[in-house]
Amino acid sequence: MGRRTGLCALHFPGFLLWCKVIGDAAEGSPLSGEVLCMDSALPTTQTKTSETGASRRETVTITDNRTGKTYELPITHDTIKAMDLRQIKVNPDDFGMISYDPAYNNTASCISRITYIDGDKGILRYRGYSIEELAEKSTYLETAYLILRGELPTEAQLKDWQYNVTHHTFIHESIKKFLDGFHYDAHPMGMVISTIAALSTFYNDAKDIFNEGSRRKQTYRLIGKMPTIAAFAYRHTLGMPYVYPDNDLSYPGNFLNMLFRTTETRYRPNPTLERALDILFILHADHEQNCSTNTVRGVGSSHVDPYSATAAAIAALYGPLHGGANEEVVRMLHEIGSVQKVPEFIKRVKAGETKLMGFGHRVYKNYDPRARIIKRVAYEVFDLMGKNPLLEIALECERIALEDEYFIKRKLYPNVDFYTGLIYQSMGFPTTMFPVLFAIPRMSGWIAQWEELLLDAEQKIARPRQIYLGYDTRSYAPIDQRS
Ligand code: CMC
Repeated sequence: MGRRTGLCALHFPGFLLWCKVIGDAAEGSPLSGEVLCMDSALPTTQTKTSETGASRRETVTITDNRTGKTYELPITHDTIKAMDLRQIKVNPDDFGMISYDPAYNNTASCISRITYIDGDKGILRYRGYSIEELAEKSTYLETAYLILRGELPTEAQLKDWQYNVTHHTFIHESIKKFLDGFHYDAHPMGMVISTIAALSTFYNDAKDIFNEGSRRKQTYRLIGKMPTIAAFAYRHTLGMPYVYPDNDLSYPGNFLNMLFRTTETRYRPNPTLERALDILFILHADHEQNCSTNTVRGVGSSHVDPYSATAAAIAALYGPLHGGANEEVVRMLHEIGSVQKVPEFIKRVKAGETKLMGFGHRVYKNYDPRARIIKRVAYEVFDLMGKNPLLEIALECERIALEDEYFIKRKLYPNVDFYTGLIYQSMGFPTTMFPVLFAIPRMSGWIAQWEELLLDAEQKIARPRQIYLGYDTRSYAPIDQRS
């Protein structure tokens, strides 16, 4: 078959390949529970009228130089459908052309209405609301509702949502025993991944994924229990007794209570730290199709329960190139040691010996808007807790990097993880807890993306193709005849 001979390079600068059959997305954001309305039967060609009045065919023409044949493919949203390439063949019984895109550099895998990023301009919006406005005016729980349901809640809806999340913060007593089984120095991310996966064994109703009521229930449970499990994992590493949730506190306030309460009868969170944590949670709530979100969608596409799917997403987040980067930034700043040693370190980065952790992003080719807000929050925390001694080193790294040709040419700017570690450290968290602090709020984004996937009639089990370049058929040789 023509699979190997069909390795013809395809370059469509300015175009995105669409891995699934897609169509015109209807305007507006649907509330969760509604099936996304999309036309999969696209017209073969569309004609648009430009500002000057000239009409324009929304197609691209490809000439296959192997055969001399031309193909006219429709363009929608600056995108061509990967499946449209399959008609390009040398012989009628060939498989047809596919697209090759390791790491999804230029491939859209879904239609989404949750989060919008313009990486060149440094824009991030949830459901159309700018991250700056949400960080200033909203709370994490309200933002989570917006991300999940598509609209900001009314007062009554918010009250109901807060009540339901708050009343699902307790965990089954058996989970405490489960956590006790971990070694004292187990990484808390490993504990959180396993415990979230274990929840699927407690809630058999979670398998009913096409039942909206069941999905709602698992959403309350996952968002409610994440801080409890995270705090219990932290207390376990310290050998300290677990602190049960306090339903009278806010979402971040209760989390601080479960982490840090010792002998006081009632824990009162410091309002500056409580608000700082709430803002950090807002900033981390969703980030469209990143590695962990792609994981929750990929695993969720097999129709497994949401505990198993989100446990997989937390595992993806754990890696140092994703949510584990905040931990690595602080390690790197310690390793640099002093402001004077920054130029030497940057030299090593430019020589390709190491990376400047907390810098660079697949999507942002400008300052990450979250990093800008985080820098401001950092100063508010430092005013209260004292300046983090690593701050000067971080600022010097940023100053040199932003003026250096290597970073300018590659459009490498500080990302969300560059300053979060310093804040978390000043708040009293050990470095191993940093990725956990990323995972807690991202749960709302993962669930919203998982639900969007389930309700998207065009989605199927995720199953990419490959280009096989291994051996052709070989005969099995007995062991005494192998060299
Ligand atoms: N330090 C030094 N050079 C870098 C860095 C960095 N942090 N990031 C990218 N580069 C270079 C890279 O070597 C390459 O250079 P060249 O063109 O000469 O080969 C160029 O910039 C393009 O990088 P890339 O690896 O092709 O970019 P990517 O989109 O595949 O990777 C990234 C994105 C975030 C994985 C990468 O920038 C990185 O490893 N950064 C450090 C880890 C980090 O901070 N991760 C957190 C990301 S934000 C939180 C989240 O959402 O997960």
